[in-house]
Amino acid sequence: MKTIAIISQKGGAGKTTVAVHLAVAAELHNLKTAVFDLDPQASAASWADKRKNTEPVVISAQAARLSNLLEQAATQSADLVIIDSAPNADSASLAAARAADLILIPCRPAAFDLNAIGTTLNLATVANKPAYVLLNAVPPHGRIGEEAKIALKDGGINVVDPVLHYLVAFSHAVNDGRTAQEYDPKSKAANEIVNLFHWLLKEENMQTNMKKYTQANMILNTKARKLVGD
Ligand SMILES: Nc1ncnc2c1ncn2[C@@H]1O[C@H](COP(=O)(O)OP(=O)(O)OP(=O)(O)O)[C@@H](O)[C@H]1O
Ligand SMILES: [Mg+2]
Repeated sequence: MKTIAIISQKGGAGKTTVAVHLAVAAELHNLKTAVFDLDPQASAASWADKRKNTEPVVISAQAARLSNLLEQAATQSADLVIIDSAPNADSASLAAARAADLILIPCRPAAFDLNAIGTTLNLATVANKPAYVLLNAVPPHGRIGEEAKIALKDGGINVVDPVLHYLVAFSHAVNDGRTAQEYDPKSKAANEIVNLFHWLLKEENMQTNMKKYTQANMILNTKARKLVGD
């Protein structure tokens, strides 16, 4: 099981947007996925309440219960847990960072946001976990995203290669508990999430699990077809 923590001290950076979009992308790839929502605002949990689909499982949680919940997820053969956190760098965010195999730090490519990522990066350093800045809500036109990426890399900061652009689909799709991929699989936003998810698969070496589940599904499908005499 892999655990991804999404943290950033800055509010509105895109933590919940990234958490739910990645979770659905993982489910669509047959990875058994859970989102642990550590934010008292409970945005991810409210999103799940509006969903018709029961997957991914979203659990509103407190940091004190994190290790227990992760154990339960592992017992239930989860492949991926995504931890969404509150906009601060407190002990809950540190607990999320410590529990993670990889930390994603969404950040808008604007001066105030970029200047504020130091505190979040410090948290990742304290947790001693690999952390990557994910540029989010990048203006679709112009070079702002590219320039921010170069500046971060020059500063020795790991940056996720695919960026997410500012696209209305990201905010629109979540209104009724869906994601951009579910709302319109052919949209630019859906495509960007697939690219981000593939980056994560490669980074976290989750391909093995994916194959395991695809094979398990094929066996189940064959059994089901036999049962109905197909
Ligand atoms: N790439 C994007 N394109 C368009 N809108 C976006 C994008 N990313 C996030 N948003 C919108 O920006 C707002 C903040 O995003 P989100 O709630 O995901 O941030 P957050 O970091 O979880 O916020 P908080 O710190 O309050 O938990 C939301 O209205 C969301 O729909
Ligand atoms: Mg949030």
